Amino acid sequence: MSQLEVNITGKSKNYPIFILNNSLSELKNLIFNRIENHNYIIVFSEKVYKLYSKILDFPKDKIFILKDGENQKNIKNYQKIMNFVLSKKLNRQDFIISIGGGVVGDLTGFVASTYMRGINLIQVPTTLLSFVDSSVGGKTAINTKYGKNLVGSFYQPESVFININFLKTLDEKQYKSGLGEILKYAFIEKNCSDFENLNLIAYLNENFEKILKRDILILLELVEYCIKLKKYVVENDEKESDLRRILNFGHTYAHAIETFTKYKKYTHGHAVVCGIYFIFDFAYKTKLIDKEYFYLAKDLLEKFSYEKSCHININKLINLIKSDKKGSDEGIYLVIPESYANCAIKKYSFDEIKNIIGE
Ligand code: GLY
Repeated sequence: MSQLEVNITGKSKNYPIFILNNSLSELKNLIFNRIENHNYIIVFSEKVYKLYSKILDFPKDKIFILKDGENQKNIKNYQKIMNFVLSKKLNRQDFIISIGGGVVGDLTGFVASTYMRGINLIQVPTTLLSFVDSSVGGKTAINTKYGKNLVGSFYQPESVFININFLKTLDEKQYKSGLGEILKYAFIEKNCSDFENLNLIAYLNENFEKILKRDILILLELVEYCIKLKKYVVENDEKESDLRRILNFGHTYAHAIETFTKYKKYTHGHAVVCGIYFIFDFAYKTKLIDKEYFYLAKDLLEKFSYEKSCHININKLINLIKSDKKGSDEGIYLVIPESYANCAIKKYSFDEIKNIIGE
């Protein structure tokens, strides 16, 4: 087991992230040791519940089961979970536990942040994407008809338990989705660290076959390293006023095509990979990066064999970017590659974007 401590300025307590490779049957005791004699409820992803309810063995009356899918992250389910918590009369020393991917984690986190103005939250992510991104850093949210994640809070968990063995049953599409976020870290690695780098681009190039085969030891190293990068970012800018925007690398285009295809065609991580292709093209066309780095990036992305059919008309793209919460009428900040494993955050007007992309 390894353990990382997240230390957010101004918060009285650090919180631990446990990275585990032991049997999932031990998870219950680890969590019970953490919550001691306090009361708790668990929100479970339906898929995870079906696969693991026996081995995890939590009492049924503590469990709320949430259907899977991005469309479940809505106000109705927020209300249902909140009613469940209220019916159990939890107090502020008690715990809400989330077991599942990003949808369960974001929604449960939002419930925890608003129940009695904040109750202890334990995140138990079960997908690669939630290991390396959504379970760490305290973003919680629900979706509304006006857009994704427009209602939410920054609310750090009390602890995070990551057991790598959940990846053994994760379907291939979701696994590749998580790899999309890992690829993102490779191109922002230098922005996200003041410690010695692993050199993720080289590491992913060397180990891509093992990664695609889900080699547990490589995954342990990779997940821990990506969390270290994210931890550095959120410790330095919890509320995304500056550095944390770097984590949106590839995401402007990703959000646009996810909205355009109504969240049905692409997983989030796949959309991020499309966004990384887009922004490398953009950076190359503006001569921010040289040919060598452009092809190095493309070669790495190719190794992970994502379908690349994600073209979108420039006018539609601009309109979608305008309605994204990170845009404004004048333009948008793009996280754009500038040198090896390093990005800049630059503002572009929509006319500039049109001229650079062409069409
Ligand atoms: N997923 C991006 C962030 O946590 O800021």
